Amino acid sequence: MSFPQNRQRRLRRTPALRRLTSEIRLDPADFVLPLFVKEGLSEPVPVSAMPGVVQHSLGSLRRAAAEAAEAGVAGVILFGIPEHKDAVGSQADDPDGIVQMALRDLSAEVGSALVLMADLCLCEYTDHGHCGPLTETGADVTVDNDRTLERYASVAVAQAAAGAHVVAPSGMQDGQVAAIRAALDAAHHQDVAICAYAAKFASAFYGPFREAAESTPSFGDRRSYQMDPANAREALREVQLDLDEGADLVMVKPALPYLDIVRQVRDAVEVPVVAYQVSGELAMIEAAAANGWLERERAMLETLTSIRRAGADTVITYWATEAARLLRATEAARLLR
Ligand code: PBG
Repeated sequence: MSFPQNRQRRLRRTPALRRLTSEIRLDPADFVLPLFVKEGLSEPVPVSAMPGVVQHSLGSLRRAAAEAAEAGVAGVILFGIPEHKDAVGSQADDPDGIVQMALRDLSAEVGSALVLMADLCLCEYTDHGHCGPLTETGADVTVDNDRTLERYASVAVAQAAAGAHVVAPSGMQDGQVAAIRAALDAAHHQDVAICAYAAKFASAFYGPFREAAESTPSFGDRRSYQMDPANAREALREVQLDLDEGADLVMVKPALPYLDIVRQVRDAVEVPVVAYQVSGELAMIEAAAANGWLERERAMLETLTSIRRAGADTVITYWATEAARLLRATEAARLLR
């Protein structure tokens, strides 16, 4: 049937018809909120390149997590910034390291309402800003893959002991998921899940995050361990390897410039697929909105819808709490009309 019998506009005529025919419905439970917690802070400190995002003190972290839970957000993912950094990132697996302290706090306060995830990497903890201890071969300085695995294993156990429900290795070292699974199981944390940053691209869109996490590499970049933005088949291979090694969830990161990867991963696997809407994705929309060039809330919800439509079950987004509140307010307003 074609025009004029068919009219596609019939089903777009009213808000109620559009609601009925909507294929993707955003829900607060789709979202995970990233939170930065910095050792030694008594007040939160704004991150200039990420409007609305702060480095938290332990006190403000608790409030932010409680607000997220209240808004219906599914979980939080924690990033820690230690006072003291060194070559191997010792603070990352210290039982009194900042993320471990934060996890213990949040377990007690919101541990039953929120999934507590911990980003598992060393770049915030090393004095050189790379994701693991370094090794030198000739003139070449790079992250020592196998020594890094031992460090990640120990960090995973520390995070699990402090109350993480999910650890999320983001360092893109080969074998990291297997090393972490073995260490967790040996320490009787067999119920702690692994969300693998499986397809993590070496992206310019991480720029603002490095200010928030104070993790800018002091030399070079991460291209020798993160993925080339040109590679889709390789992303599927990374995902498959992480599943073989025991990942419970797999992540694609960034989200918006990699929606094709989200879709391909969704079609290839049965486990939950997570997409990370990264700092630069937030920054570009916030900057455009601040200039009056975009409608901020519409753009926010449109990107989240796109990421879900591409196949992500869960979206990690700095807008989690706000988007959750917006969705609830919109639904409530509809009922009152
Ligand atoms: C740490 C890590 C990064 C992000 C999440 N975990 C930065 C990086 O790899 O340089 C980026 C998140 C964002 O940009 O919002 N390895």
